[in-house]
Amino acid sequence: MYKINTNYQKLPGSYLFSNIAKKVNAFTEAHPEADIIRLGIGDVTQPIAPAMIEAMHKAVDEMGDAKTFHGYAPDLGYAFLRDAIVAHDYQARGCDISADEIFVSDGAKSDSGNIQEIFSVDNRIAVCDPVYPVYVDSNVMAGRTGVYDANTQMWSNVIYMPCTAENNFVPEFPKENPDIIYLCLPNNPTGTTLTKDQLQEWVDYANRIGAIIIYDAAYEAYISESNVAHTIYECQGAKTCAIEIRSFSKNAGFTGVRLGFTVVPKDLVCDGVSLNGMWARRHGTKFNGAPYIIQRAGEAVYSDAGQAQIKEQVGYYMNNAKTIYTGLKDAGYEVYGGINAPYIWLKTPENMTSWDFFDFLLEKANVVGTPGSGFGPSGEGYFRLTAFGSYENSVRALERIKNL
Ligand code: MLT
Repeated sequence: MYKINTNYQKLPGSYLFSNIAKKVNAFTEAHPEADIIRLGIGDVTQPIAPAMIEAMHKAVDEMGDAKTFHGYAPDLGYAFLRDAIVAHDYQARGCDISADEIFVSDGAKSDSGNIQEIFSVDNRIAVCDPVYPVYVDSNVMAGRTGVYDANTQMWSNVIYMPCTAENNFVPEFPKENPDIIYLCLPNNPTGTTLTKDQLQEWVDYANRIGAIIIYDAAYEAYISESNVAHTIYECQGAKTCAIEIRSFSKNAGFTGVRLGFTVVPKDLVCDGVSLNGMWARRHGTKFNGAPYIIQRAGEAVYSDAGQAQIKEQVGYYMNNAKTIYTGLKDAGYEVYGGINAPYIWLKTPENMTSWDFFDFLLEKANVVGTPGSGFGPSGEGYFRLTAFGSYENSVRALERIKNL
């Protein structure tokens, strides 16, 4: 008789964004006339810019000709893309990362969910609270998180590092030493970030206690302040304690085409075993490479035209962020984020719970956001709006919220 992985039974409810989608679908069925504005999931709305579309068209044509056809992609990604990543994202920032430390994938979500499997189940993870739910849920599935307490909404074997207005959304070093530390900067969901000096303290801490940092930098393109690091490898010593995960979803609008990469430095060695080698083994066994067409689009992101076009697109979303941020402030809300990230994090009015505010906003303003408590217990009483909608919808949503 076969047995299932009972860790899945421990997961409370569905994945946050599936849950929200179900609720919104039920509302639309009951109110087919409602003109819903979706500022919930951080999904882009602007079309992929011309340089990348052109590269994909060209690659599609190549696939239709035996002379230029491509089958399986190399496990770790095509050299043309890995070299472009190294040159633009690392060497240009003074970081000594080489192409054989880059692993191209189908996106940051899969990598951030999968990376935990190269670590022992005995490791203790630490997460910021609130946090992107994939980090905790994937560790639950692996059996690393202990017992769930529905009252506190906490797992017994997870170290939570609260990030709230009280500590300026800056996590403090936990009392007990973690083995694996997840950091997402600029942060999803709070839209806040750490300065480079603050990040350096985390790198020093991880090296000191022998922990590894899983650094999710999916929102790097949204950094506007000069004292914020674009990659953790700008910090001294990060190559001996950090894996970095990057995405093309948010900077280049690839949420629907899927492309990302993970950096596993060769200096990461545990008990004589190379983590780079382990991730290469995992990648080779379980992944057959991101599609050639999409990797060519990724390469085009680094062309001069691609860089100019994605900069404009990021600017468009950041203008939405500013519009939402200032609009909410003017309406009397307590608001955070939106300066180095496409997320606006607000305090719910009149001490409403996050889910009550979600229902209230959906029913009264037909606006969808994301309840802060869906990201962890310290997110209770907060709410997230994304800047990834259109400008027009951001303005309309704001008007409706102001009129509540
Ligand atoms: C979010 O809304 O938090 C993200 O878009 C989800 C994701 O990137 O997987």
